[in-house]
Amino acid sequence: MLDHRSIRKYTDQTPTDETLKAIVRAGQQAPFASQYYSVLLSRNRKRNPFKAPLLFTICVDSHKFELIMARRGWKLVANDLTLLFFGIQDAAYMAENMVVAARSLGLGSCFLGNAMLRADKIATEYQLPKRVFPLVQLTMGYPAEDPPPRPRYPTEFALFEDKYPELNARMVSKAMKQMDDGYLAQDYYRKARYMIPLKGHRKETFTYDNYSWTEHICRKWGQWYPQPKEMLKQLEKRGFNLSAC
Ligand SMILES: Cc1cc2nc3c(=O)[nH]c(=O)nc-3n(C[C@H](O)[C@H](O)[C@H](O)COP(=O)(O)O)c2cc1C
Repeated sequence: MLDHRSIRKYTDQTPTDETLKAIVRAGQQAPFASQYYSVLLSRNRKRNPFKAPLLFTICVDSHKFELIMARRGWKLVANDLTLLFFGIQDAAYMAENMVVAARSLGLGSCFLGNAMLRADKIATEYQLPKRVFPLVQLTMGYPAEDPPPRPRYPTEFALFEDKYPELNARMVSKAMKQMDDGYLAQDYYRKARYMIPLKGHRKETFTYDNYSWTEHICRKWGQWYPQPKEMLKQLEKRGFNLSAC
């Protein structure tokens, strides 16, 4: 697991049905609150992102559960915010189990986070019933690249025993340095040729020599998605109602 890295290039080798089933079955064995998810599969290499042999779309699925409740003569009364929090966890633990299982069988994978922002399009493509919400996608196949493992925060910036500490400047700087030096040493953003453009009055002062992870992530969450409208619209189209919460 310490050797994990996302894989975005795949060989022509097609995973067998047996391998596919083993990976999904391992995913299903993840801990769950209510098995509140479904997984969609596309083997359409030509269309899949990164031309991956397998594309999974992990969905939060209330539809399936409501069918079970109806069979028992029950109706769902739980609110959608709470259900979504639980459902996202069920779906995420399942998906990560698939990542780990795939790796143990020699396959690589990469999550794609924008599924939730184009949930309506995915719903049309896979003819999803209402109350099924595409959360995240996962490409998978045999690796045709061997990138280095990417940096992470120091563990003391992630694990706080007994009490959440007062995070002083030294601790924050150390964590930022570990991430930024790590990504710069791998020349990650120059190789990816990707710097998030600055909006408005801000002037660009960075080059690929000093643009690294903390600047990248600040530009993301300091500029993107200021309003929840788009997400709420996607959820509402799928039959989830958060305005009632
Ligand atoms: C929710 C989520 C969304 C992601 N979305 C994308 C994506 O859209 N495109 C991409 O290339 N990688 C995506 N990733 C992969 C991350 O970029 C990657 O996990 C992170 O940079 C750390 O690198 P590593 O997985 O190689 O350790 C996503 C990962 C997660 C968990």
